[in-house]
Amino acid sequence: MKRISLVFLTVVCVLLAAIAPARSQRPRDVEQQVNALLAQMTLAEKLGQLQQLDGEANGNYRPEHVELARKGLLGSTLNVRGAQKTNELQRVAVNESRLKIPLLFGFDVIHGYRTIFPIPVGEAASWDPTLAERSAAVAAQEANNAGLRWTFAPMLDIARDPRWGRITEGAGEDPFLGAAFGAARVRGFQGADYSAPDKVLACAKHWVAYGAAEGGRDYNTTEVSENTLREIYFPPFKAAIDAGVGTLMSSFNAINGVPATSNAFVLTKVLRDEWKFDGFVVSDYTSVRELINHGVAANEEQAAAAALNAGVDMEMVSRSYNQFGPKLLEQRKISLATIDEAVRRILRIKFRLGLFDRPYTDEASEPQSLLRPASLSLAREIAARSMVLLKNDRNVLPLPNNVKSIAVIGPLADDRRAPLGWWAGDGREENTITPLAGLKAKVSPQTMVLYAKGSDVTGDSTAGFEQAVAVAKQSDVAVVFVGETHEMVGEAASRSTLDLPGRQLDLVKAVQATGKPTVVVLVNGRPLAIGWIVDNVPAILESWMGGSQSGNAVADVLFGDVNPGGKLPVTFPRSVGQVPIYYNHMNTGRPPEPENRYTSKYYDVPWTPLFPFGYGLSYTTFKLSNLQLSAPRIRSADRLTVSVEVENAGTRAGDEVVQLYVRDVVASMTRPVKELKGFQRVTLQPGEKRRVEFTLTGDHLAFWNRDLRFVVEPGEFRVMVGSNSRDVIEAKFEVVER
Ligand code: NOJ
Repeated sequence: MKRISLVFLTVVCVLLAAIAPARSQRPRDVEQQVNALLAQMTLAEKLGQLQQLDGEANGNYRPEHVELARKGLLGSTLNVRGAQKTNELQRVAVNESRLKIPLLFGFDVIHGYRTIFPIPVGEAASWDPTLAERSAAVAAQEANNAGLRWTFAPMLDIARDPRWGRITEGAGEDPFLGAAFGAARVRGFQGADYSAPDKVLACAKHWVAYGAAEGGRDYNTTEVSENTLREIYFPPFKAAIDAGVGTLMSSFNAINGVPATSNAFVLTKVLRDEWKFDGFVVSDYTSVRELINHGVAANEEQAAAAALNAGVDMEMVSRSYNQFGPKLLEQRKISLATIDEAVRRILRIKFRLGLFDRPYTDEASEPQSLLRPASLSLAREIAARSMVLLKNDRNVLPLPNNVKSIAVIGPLADDRRAPLGWWAGDGREENTITPLAGLKAKVSPQTMVLYAKGSDVTGDSTAGFEQAVAVAKQSDVAVVFVGETHEMVGEAASRSTLDLPGRQLDLVKAVQATGKPTVVVLVNGRPLAIGWIVDNVPAILESWMGGSQSGNAVADVLFGDVNPGGKLPVTFPRSVGQVPIYYNHMNTGRPPEPENRYTSKYYDVPWTPLFPFGYGLSYTTFKLSNLQLSAPRIRSADRLTVSVEVENAGTRAGDEVVQLYVRDVVASMTRPVKELKGFQRVTLQPGEKRRVEFTLTGDHLAFWNRDLRFVVEPGEFRVMVGSNSRDVIEAKFEVVER
């Protein structure tokens, strides 16, 4: 009896230890613990902390990891996941290594772990960062229960080129929106204390300017002025750091001739000296070794020295630090102080994470933590709130509840993989609700749903058109789901055209030719050039890749249970030839004038986009009026209140995203024609009117001048408020010298 209760007690204690929240770490204690540990470490153990290795695609660790962990020669893994697998390997590190330093398990939990949320660019289309915070919190909770303590997210790359497949992973083209979403995601992943049992450490990536890849070709080099770096590419990272992000990832690209992974300017001067970041930087996958391909290192030895000296603390996958660290130290190409500092940064984060107190995950609770009903309903809500209504002539949408028959057509109508996007975490196709399933679940028993795939996303076959046309003819309305596969977006998925791939446009044309009211629903990860559809099809809904619940969310929006209120976080070009095209461009000496040949435009296509940044319709209509400023003139230290009246002028409740832009009219350098400086998504009942208020401060008006100082220059400013970046009402104010 005694033995049984002792065993019972021990089991309870072990269980409690596994699930108890870690002691919150006081900063002084952490530094003392870090230094005490560092003092005991051999050089090999120090270099071991700097090493991160990849697991197997299925989540297993590799046999060699066990030996390395035992010897203290491994600091972290990526892709090893699942409570059981991570616990197994962790036990080796904690019980069998000399210093018992726990491993840090990382994974790309980009927009969900098992419950998959919309792709980040889609989620940004909600213009509601609180949603991103909530989805990241669910992702963190699921990931943590699966043994992970670190996600390689948020991805904060500003992308002005939709050819680049990774535009799908960020918040679009704007630094202000990107900063708001980046900070929200960090808060969601990490919470107030990332040692909590439902949080993970975040990693702001890719530092930096990866989205500026020339030609939109992934991994390509970038040429970006320091002013543009500071104004466009840095702000989301600064916001993430201000929100407490613990780690950053260096990017693959070179910036103005210096690869980001050996770039002391961005890794040390900006990050450490200016921003005082005290977390650690991990390289991207083999990006240390790739310094050889960049041509800035002759061999791995030089690559290791270049990356470590520049400020990359942890090396992902390649092993140059470990292999060449001792030799480099001996030759004084790197210093012990540099190694120690990198180790210190990593240990600091491991202590802050509470890893030493809670290295394991409770295996029993993993299954219940995944796909919880509340998580799924949040995924549905966010997917619906991310959708953007691009066109709705003759009020084709919402579909009436008593519609007799719907033709559901297209290669993406019943595809379970595409809605999960490229980074699907540990998401499973069997958990995806496709549009066809969502619509079938939504309609009343009296409504007939006919389905025809019509074509594949790619390829040349039109064999399925006949059936698609036939079902359209038998129905009251045709809804056609076209777009991209998950493989066409994300990493290494740059495209040279933005057209619908394969024969999908012809499929849309064939359905449209039946004369049935046709709705096109886009399932895609980047802006597409869909001019013909815009000119010919009455209703278009951008649904992005909406995650596990995308089909239910599409049905919610198509039937009007959710009134779409999303807005594009990125410009849609008319043709790929307009790229790069973004709303916050500089003016030229010859701004476009329709009748004047010698102005800045194209011969064969209008210079304007197909849909501007910030664009999106609703099933109701909104009016913005009565723009007011708190003063006609201010000093740069003052605050200016800008307010506008927004009215729901239609007959349905709906959401409007009120957007605030400014322009510095005359400055010592050219300034963007518009810059987003505020936004608010508001819900208004029919007929409801509300005054929406924004505050502008000097930080909103300042820019990096020719001397690379962040200054507000006195003079005239224009303030614009609108429902997108094109349709605005405006006022002026002046900044006067103090
Ligand atoms: C390479 C990608 O660029 C990065 O975003 C990702 O986190 C790593 N691989 C790890 O999977």
